Amino acid sequence: MEKIESFEQYQQIHKKSVENPEEFWAEIASTYSWKKQWDNVLDWEFDTPDVKWFQGGTLNITENLLDRHLASRGNKLALIWEPNDPKEKFVRYTYKELHEKVCQFANVLKNNGAKKGDRICIYMPMIPDLAIAVMACARIGAVHSVVFAGFSAHALSDRINDAACNIVITSDGLFRGAKEIPVKRVVDEALNTCDTVDKVIVAERVGWMPNMVEGRDVWLHDELEKADKYCEAEEMNAEDPLFILYTSGSTGKPKGIMHTCGGYMVYAGYSFKQVFQYDESDIYWCTADIGWITGHTYIVYGPLLNGATTVMFEGVPTFPDAGRFWQVVDKYGVNQFYTAPTAIRALMAHGVDHVLSYSLDSLKVLGSVGEPINEEAWNWYHIHVGKERCPIVDTWWQTETGGIMISGLGSSSPMKPAHAGYPLPGIQPVLLDKDGNEIEENGVEGYLAVKHPWPSMLRTIWGDHNRCQKTYFSHYNGYYFTGDGAKRDENGMYRIIGRVDDVINVSGHRFGTAEIENAINRNEKVVESAVVGYPHEIKGQGIYAYVVCSDVESDEEILKAEIIETVVEEIGKIAKPEKIQIVPNLPKTRSGKIMRRILRKIAEGDTSSLGDTSTLLDPDVVEKIKEGAKLLE
Ligand code: WT7
Repeated sequence: MEKIESFEQYQQIHKKSVENPEEFWAEIASTYSWKKQWDNVLDWEFDTPDVKWFQGGTLNITENLLDRHLASRGNKLALIWEPNDPKEKFVRYTYKELHEKVCQFANVLKNNGAKKGDRICIYMPMIPDLAIAVMACARIGAVHSVVFAGFSAHALSDRINDAACNIVITSDGLFRGAKEIPVKRVVDEALNTCDTVDKVIVAERVGWMPNMVEGRDVWLHDELEKADKYCEAEEMNAEDPLFILYTSGSTGKPKGIMHTCGGYMVYAGYSFKQVFQYDESDIYWCTADIGWITGHTYIVYGPLLNGATTVMFEGVPTFPDAGRFWQVVDKYGVNQFYTAPTAIRALMAHGVDHVLSYSLDSLKVLGSVGEPINEEAWNWYHIHVGKERCPIVDTWWQTETGGIMISGLGSSSPMKPAHAGYPLPGIQPVLLDKDGNEIEENGVEGYLAVKHPWPSMLRTIWGDHNRCQKTYFSHYNGYYFTGDGAKRDENGMYRIIGRVDDVINVSGHRFGTAEIENAINRNEKVVESAVVGYPHEIKGQGIYAYVVCSDVESDEEILKAEIIETVVEEIGKIAKPEKIQIVPNLPKTRSGKIMRRILRKIAEGDTSSLGDTSTLLDPDVVEKIKEGAKLLE
């Protein structure tokens, strides 16, 4: 697979990929190892939708991640693991060692009853066993469903039940910054409301003695001792599911986004190579958690498909101090560094001295992902981290897209602060007006959609294909609708503006407003609630909840603390509302619809232009909410 080295070359290749997508993708797919060649490159229609890539082909993705590299890169480092505490020793695995670890873990799964097609939930901290577990599932053809280890027992239980998982892989506890968290206890609580799980495999991380349920719970280290170091890779059809990953939508229930073996592999590998311009001896580091899609595609799958050395980091950017990222960059000589704007903004707030104490000479490409990067953060990243010599790739994509869709390609593309730029080869984005017509010219704004399939697009929502159709393919006929609004400048560069649906993006994490409202409403003192996002200096967006309570006599501060507690129990700490305003009523139209536009304006602190409030059932309520909001500031 050749790297694209200039903008002219990119333009030619993109043009070719649009004129003949099948030929384009077949050529890339043939650089991987398949057990059986495909019959058809692509069959598709976007109505139901039904998209199939490389039908008839069979493969195992782990042979492409590991086995394929053994001859030429067996002793090359595949994975470097950096612990939470810099005083603890790091772990390094060569391709040969990682291959052995994955095979052995795969045998542990088999010995515990796992079969091809089973769903296995992985609820683990960022330790090497997490990456190994993911690949072990893929080795035996089981479908992994990784749940970020910050989700609550309730959220975990919902996800286990939705996919009817039969095995959970977890750890005794986890370290995050100065904190220690009892992970296994969360699993135990979740399993009180799950009846499909018959085995829990527990990795040891913090050295606690969690409760082990006889017959159900086993220690990973005990199981590994009994497991063989060789495991044949299961032959999978290209369209067999590889994994499910839950994400939030505009309605309450999280969606299990399903990705398949063949297409996901082809795109994860290709996009990694092009965007980060990886060279054989480079060290690449993505700071995401494997609990999110960024970690799936750009810590595990994309880098290893390319035989790269990937760094996995257990900790947080500010522990033990705000120089942690830069210390790790220097420690390993990281060449490509990929993080989120929220982390950059948080570090900016700690001052530039933390950056200036490190050399950062090794850096070649900087990446950004998860939310729009504001110009101030972009400039800080460019000047202080990249020393104005590293291109910044602002990568726009989604859990649903599986891989990066719009982005610069290392230094081969022009860059412009706050602009993701141009689509990758093979990607055909469009801007639509509200009637679903394509806006052809440049210098415009519209709804961001995609008009042709790409290999790593979602195939369905687990167990609810109808919802997949409704959410992504029904708004605009014949297009995949992203849920984002975007601008295209005079030169055709895209700038993502943000969600146009009821999804909010807090520190690069997605939440549906309805999902948080449902959680708040579980508190028995709550009558109803409305959640909106508001601009937050570090998190991008913060969660602002307007809550109507039955118990108006109570102390407001206590009520608020109880509401927060309910959200933490229902979803997890990551979904804690930043601001809660107890209100006498919500502004509603005569037909009972909540006027979110007004609530959003008030949360933004912009009460001068609330627009027409005359259609409200009770216009007075707006005045009361405005007054209450001032007190919160
Ligand atoms: C939403 C997807 C896959 C990336 C991690 C988040 C927003 C993502 C950018 C970017 C502006 C971005 C969009 C998108 N987003 N990257 N570079 N610039 N916005 O994945 O949780 O599935 O969220 O994140 O709004 O729709 P996700």
